Amino acid sequence: KVKKDKMTILVLGLNNSGKSTILNHFKKPNEQSAIMVPTVGFLVEQFYTMGVSIKAMDMSGATRYRNLWEHQFKNCQGIIYVIDSSDRMRFGKKSIECNCVVVTSFTLGLPVVVKDELDLVLQHPDLCNRTVPILFYGNKSDLEDSLSNVKIAAALGLDNIKDKPWHICSSNAISGEGLDEGVQWLVQQIR
Ligand code: GTP
Repeated sequence: KVKKDKMTILVLGLNNSGKSTILNHFKKPNEQSAIMVPTVGFLVEQFYTMGVSIKAMDMSGATRYRNLWEHQFKNCQGIIYVIDSSDRMRFGKKSIECNCVVVTSFTLGLPVVVKDELDLVLQHPDLCNRTVPILFYGNKSDLEDSLSNVKIAAALGLDNIKDKPWHICSSNAISGEGLDEGVQWLVQQIR
């Protein structure tokens, strides 16, 4: 493989999962914004870690912007998919521990459930034939009712992903726990 020193990574996930907070962790202290606002459209962030310059696009999880994601699929070399591990409501029907089951929140006709969203990404024509590595952050692991990685993987059927290398990492984006470990894995896959 050719050694790459520049990588383009997409940061995806439902709204409020912690994408902006995660990207903030990787930026230099003086570049961090103290207050997060729900992302409008998408934000391009640049950071440098492990000897590579990473251009990360934080695509907003807000439903009405989700069609912006797919235009970036062609050019990306890796994906970070952020999951709010405490957001049981949106794990959807397959969630093992979610008793409330069917998620009824629909915006613009799209089901707002992690599994449906992830499947849309995985089946996209610009991604389904490529071995793009996917790092999952089981974020908000500090919250009491957060699901373990094993349960998240089962709820989302991650074992069915056969054509792409994937890895799941628990993270706490506020303290930074787990974030570096995850990106290390991703960078190694791309290099
Ligand atoms: P959108 O821009 O709406 O798509 O949201 P986002 O995915 O960028 O989420 P954001 O980073 O704005 O975080 C949403 C909220 O969750 C904020 O109040 C964060 O402080 C909080 N949050 C993010 N990560 C964690 C975490 O690991 N633990 C806890 N307890 N809260 C978190």
